[in-house]
Amino acid sequence: MELRAVKGMNDILPDEAVRWQRLEAAFREHVRLHGYDEVRTPILESTALFQRQIGETTDVVEKEMYSFERHGDALTVRPEGTAGAARAYVEHKVHTKEPVSRWYYLGPMFRGERPAKGRYRQFYQAGCEVYGDPGPLADAEMIDMIFSLLTTRLGIANIEVRLNSLGASGTRQRYAAALKQFFDPIKDKLSEDSQRRLDKNPLRILDSKAPRDREAAQAAPSILELLDETDSAHFAGVKKHLDALGVRYVVDPTLVRGLDYYTRTLFEFVTTTGELGAQSTVVGGGRYDNMVEGLGGPSVPAIGFAMGIERLLTLMPDASGREAPFCYVAPLSEPCASTALVLGRDLRRLGVRVEVDGRGGKLKAMLRRADALGAKVCAIVCEGELERGVVAIKNLAAHAQEEVPLADAARILAERAANPSGSGDARGTH
Ligand code: HAM
Repeated sequence: MELRAVKGMNDILPDEAVRWQRLEAAFREHVRLHGYDEVRTPILESTALFQRQIGETTDVVEKEMYSFERHGDALTVRPEGTAGAARAYVEHKVHTKEPVSRWYYLGPMFRGERPAKGRYRQFYQAGCEVYGDPGPLADAEMIDMIFSLLTTRLGIANIEVRLNSLGASGTRQRYAAALKQFFDPIKDKLSEDSQRRLDKNPLRILDSKAPRDREAAQAAPSILELLDETDSAHFAGVKKHLDALGVRYVVDPTLVRGLDYYTRTLFEFVTTTGELGAQSTVVGGGRYDNMVEGLGGPSVPAIGFAMGIERLLTLMPDASGREAPFCYVAPLSEPCASTALVLGRDLRRLGVRVEVDGRGGKLKAMLRRADALGAKVCAIVCEGELERGVVAIKNLAAHAQEEVPLADAARILAERAANPSGSGDARGTH
């Protein structure tokens, strides 16, 4: 039997990994400017963590988690990053060290969903969590941070921000009761899944993609009508700050999201270009003011988001591929190999990207490889020239060749690498 990658899990080969690195670097730099620091938590957590925090009746917990038992512990490969980060926040009593913490993370998440374009079983998220700031300023600042990352920094067009508020947990319960009352008489119009949801978690019906559920939900009551005064004022504050920042958003009272921990502000960033089909949500997040306390910590409000790296990469305009070496070092015979290695190492110490050809063989083949890699120069190391204490440098674009003293070769090449259009380039004899 041919061995292949597990269904829904992808290899990222170097050509593609370059784009990943670019996105990750942009994310890190962007959130750094907003005061975030990285947190790294384990990929395995206790199954109970996700069951309690994400919610027993969510799709993620009901049917998507990779769970198993080992050494008597019930473990789950993390389906998302928020629960683990909050567990770490509580476990390390971070609230005793600082009043507000801003954390970010990057890494793989695992959900046994049906694979499709933009929907995988191992996928990557970049996310942020803020603990200790009740908003609404923090909520608007976070949404603005994501918006500018996607549009200005990553060059993604046609992004829509959808916004809703779930109120505090009391509102959620009142809303669940109102939805139950609304859907009960039209129960048989709902999909089988949603008929089940009606008793356990009626908010999930609003999240359903089934056309009959969508149709039935059209006239459903709006949660915004059930918000109490403080929740309404909070939501109004978020909108006011977003208006001041010039971030456009659409208030969508049917937005509930697939995880049960949210309170108050809820948001999604959606692409309107259709490339991702049903997977059009690229960022999801919201406030979850009860989680830290639910994990045995103090009452600390929190808000966060995560974005799907694969989905964002589909939308990011293509930029050029892998980085070329500046210098390709071609030793023409075995006795020159050590000198070539030393030259390569010396150049790297000066910060230059170098590849040394270890295959041996003909110069022509080595020059072809240097060209294919996009190297700017090829250092040709051969016995005759070494005897004279020099090495040949071929400028690959100008097809010009010169000799430089071996002892100075690394310094000269490093200067040219740092100043590619400078006066030192493309001189020499043919
Ligand atoms: P989520 O909406 O489940 O939220 O996931 C966030 C993003 O991860 C989605 O918008 C999507 O881009 C990406 N994503 C989710 N599932 C998949 C998949 N199967 N394949 C590819 N991409 C996927 C959360 O995970 C929350 N922890 C976000 C959060 C952080 N809320 C508060 N803090």
